[in-house]
Amino acid sequence: MTEPRLLIVSNRLPVTVRTDRGELSVAPSAGGLATGLRGPHTKSDGLWIGWPGDVSHLDDAQRGSLDEKLEAMRAVPLYLEPEEVTRYYEGYSNGVLWPLFHYMVDRIPLVSTDWEVYQHVNQRFADLTVARYRPGDTIWVQDYQLMLVPGMIRERLPSATIGFFLHIPFPSSEAFRILPRREEILTGLLGADLIGFHTFSYLDQFARSMMRILGLDVEVDRLRYAGRNVRLGVFPMGIDAAHFSQVATSPELATEADAIRQRAAPCRILLGVDRMDYTKGLTRRLLAYERLLARSPELHGKVRLVQVAVPSRTEVDAYVTLKTQVDELVGKINGEYGTIDWTPIHYLYRSIPESQLIALYRAADVMLVTPVRDGLNLVAKEFIASRVDDDGVLILSELAGAASELGEALRVNPYDIDATAGAMAQALALAPEERRIRMSALRRRIMTHDVHRWVSLFLGTLERSATQREPAG
Ligand code: UDP
Ligand code: G6P
Repeated sequence: MTEPRLLIVSNRLPVTVRTDRGELSVAPSAGGLATGLRGPHTKSDGLWIGWPGDVSHLDDAQRGSLDEKLEAMRAVPLYLEPEEVTRYYEGYSNGVLWPLFHYMVDRIPLVSTDWEVYQHVNQRFADLTVARYRPGDTIWVQDYQLMLVPGMIRERLPSATIGFFLHIPFPSSEAFRILPRREEILTGLLGADLIGFHTFSYLDQFARSMMRILGLDVEVDRLRYAGRNVRLGVFPMGIDAAHFSQVATSPELATEADAIRQRAAPCRILLGVDRMDYTKGLTRRLLAYERLLARSPELHGKVRLVQVAVPSRTEVDAYVTLKTQVDELVGKINGEYGTIDWTPIHYLYRSIPESQLIALYRAADVMLVTPVRDGLNLVAKEFIASRVDDDGVLILSELAGAASELGEALRVNPYDIDATAGAMAQALALAPEERRIRMSALRRRIMTHDVHRWVSLFLGTLERSATQREPAG
């Protein structure tokens, strides 16, 4: 008898293929979904089905070697054709759904013809999952790229246990209703036994769309569809807090963090770490920092913003434009305020290794997490888990899902440049005792509400929901 397994299904695998001067390697994928689920996948003995990134430039031998590397990680690759990358991934998922779900309606193209390819690739993910499924397995589909997959799997496996988790906001029904394929998306999701969200507000907005668009009655957290019960639930994702804390405590890391601080001295460090994405509020953050410098000449030569911007979706127009805007703003601020001895902004457009990231978290005086809209935001939680010294101040956008859990952070409306600049000044001026009180309260929550608890709460609720399911008949 083989043991039931967890099958994670997501667009992106936790590793992405790289070739450097003809040498093939796999690197950790960026983004919260991949970093968050990596630990639980390693601990389970299940499979992770997803896309390992663009492989069109690999020869057969390299493809074979990639397959071997992935198999060793229990990762099952779904290779996307170049046209699928353009139309399903860049076109529909990140050109239509991503901006709409983050309320950036003006970024949606006037005409999109990519829906059929989105459907087709969702069917490919469903088919591959069904092919790898063994009775008793639990299937857990992730995120907006795969919203049709639960329904497609349900057609083929009526009694399978299927969960779905949305890692981004679910918008208000007024925004969602403008999507021409809104009914298909909703019914696709209803193939799941349990649909999970980061916050109650996303669940509530989803329930309203169910009522207004499909005319279905939702009773708080459950509804009936096609003769089955479907549960809705709120599960704010956690991080592997013990891991961050442990790495942050190591002597090598403490030395590295000290070295970062000494190199910056006498400057205090404000830190930003984000994928280069227009939802992360990078341009407004830079304007707020510029305003801080304009208002506070006494801070010149005394503060430094370290901004790590991880390249993301670099073939999508809006991301290309954003990169140009950020490059220009950083150049303008450094040009205007910098001196021979002082650079106000250190800007890194690249991904950095985890140890360097944690050293930066530990070295920072103030962490800036100021998205204009964000499903949750794991960077905020990683910063807290890394502050084993109970120091450091978190400035957090009220438009990030994590804001509902992290009440001791300094909250800002990222659209209010003045208030954000004010919060930066306030954070720099906060007394050590006040910093300690806030950080230790944040840490208590992050350390207990971690990713392992998140996985077990979701899967426990899914198991209970599935046993209560009555198959369609
Ligand atoms: N991250 C990364 N590479 C880096 C810097 C950060 O993969 O060079 C990770 C970071 O540790 C975090 C994730 O990217 O786990 C970002 O997740 P978040 O939820 O903050 O935002 P998302 O990118 O998912 O929108
Ligand atoms: C967000 C999304 C994830 C996605 C990640 C990175 O976290 O919710 O689904 O994987 O961004 O984006 P990418 O397009 O590179 O996978």
